[in-house]
Amino acid sequence: MFVRRLILQDFRSYASADLEFDAGVSTLVGLNGQGKTNVVEALGYLASLSSHRVAQDAPLVRAGADQAVVQAVVERDGHQTQLQLEINPGRSNRAQLGRSPLTRPRDLLGSLRTVLFAPEDLALVKGDPSERRRFLDDLLVARQPRWAAARSDYDKILKQRNALLKNARTAADRGAALATLPVWDTHLAQVGANLVYARLRLLRDLQPYLRLAYDEVSAGQSDARTTYRSSLYDELAEQVAAGEVPDVADLEAGFVKSLEQQRGPEVDRGITLVGPHRDDVVLQLGALPAKGYASHGESWSFALGLRIAAFQLLRHDLGSDPVLVLDDVFAELDAGRRRRLALMVGDCEQVLITAAVGEDVPESLHGGRFTVTLGSVTKA
Ligand SMILES: Nc1ncnc2c1ncn2[C@@H]1O[C@H](COP(=O)(O)OP(=O)(O)OP(=O)(O)O)[C@@H](O)[C@H]1O
Ligand SMILES: [Mg+2]
Repeated sequence: MFVRRLILQDFRSYASADLEFDAGVSTLVGLNGQGKTNVVEALGYLASLSSHRVAQDAPLVRAGADQAVVQAVVERDGHQTQLQLEINPGRSNRAQLGRSPLTRPRDLLGSLRTVLFAPEDLALVKGDPSERRRFLDDLLVARQPRWAAARSDYDKILKQRNALLKNARTAADRGAALATLPVWDTHLAQVGANLVYARLRLLRDLQPYLRLAYDEVSAGQSDARTTYRSSLYDELAEQVAAGEVPDVADLEAGFVKSLEQQRGPEVDRGITLVGPHRDDVVLQLGALPAKGYASHGESWSFALGLRIAAFQLLRHDLGSDPVLVLDDVFAELDAGRRRRLALMVGDCEQVLITAAVGEDVPESLHGGRFTVTLGSVTKA
């Protein structure tokens, strides 16, 4: 698929913008702070309903405005679809597909797929476990949008269970306060086991693409791998770390057992200590973990490798390319890495590239060119 047109209204620094793209490569060039990333952030938001830069919606709306609107025309196999999203901070967002308003913005997921690589992705390697969990869960949703509902169900159950644990800490009659806990355990284990299962399968499917992508970017043979670090009880966690994918039923039973084991500490601390929200993915180069060991360039290549692998996985899964977005990537790479990346992405259906210095982008990738100056975009 590719984006034919992107229209912004009061999004970030743009009062309004209307961009037309062709399939193939488009490059947005402009000095720092002129609004290049804002454009690709809008596209990423439309595809995933979240920004790669901020957790809240408020910064996405142009200062002084109370609503942002992002629209796109997406073309797939000669067929055009129009997507529209109103971003209303503090109120519900509203989405429209073609002429039909959607009940929930979530129903927009799947109509546009993007894989976005940005400098912020260095946090995938160097940052907290939450960064890697988000990578996995976002990719799950990009692959199968129905996971968005499971993710949100899990978050809701977790919140309620944590509230119960917190109340029990201060309640005069702890026993009574905890009486409904087993019901929440069952809910949490059911939804949580499915989520863990899906993540494990995803990692297993991603692995071969990751190894290839890392080696291609870095022109080496480095054995880039991932190991899932589970918060479930020890034997099960070891099994999972060894790359096994247990049945959902086994994971669910293991989840309940792990919750029982952690009952005391959970009540003492008033939080849920077991589940996908406590898990991590260890990124490794050979036997060494990337975090704390990999050089800056290796970390960068690993983050890029993860995104390229995600792109390849979606391409093979869905039989159609997601839109590949490379925000500010070339400036960070040496000449060899630039050339190899250009070769890797040359056959993607659409690639959107941003760069502060146009010359940093290899000649072979120039394609359509846009100049970005102070919140306005013009075709060069
Ligand atoms: N909500 C907002 N309202 C108005 N302006 C905003 C808003 N959010 C961000 N900006 C402005 O957008 C500009 C940043 O745009 P962006 O991040 O797209 O720049 P860029 O071209 O990618 O720069 P760089 O090359 O440094 O990455 C900043 O000047 C910032 O002040
Ligand atoms: Mg930028």
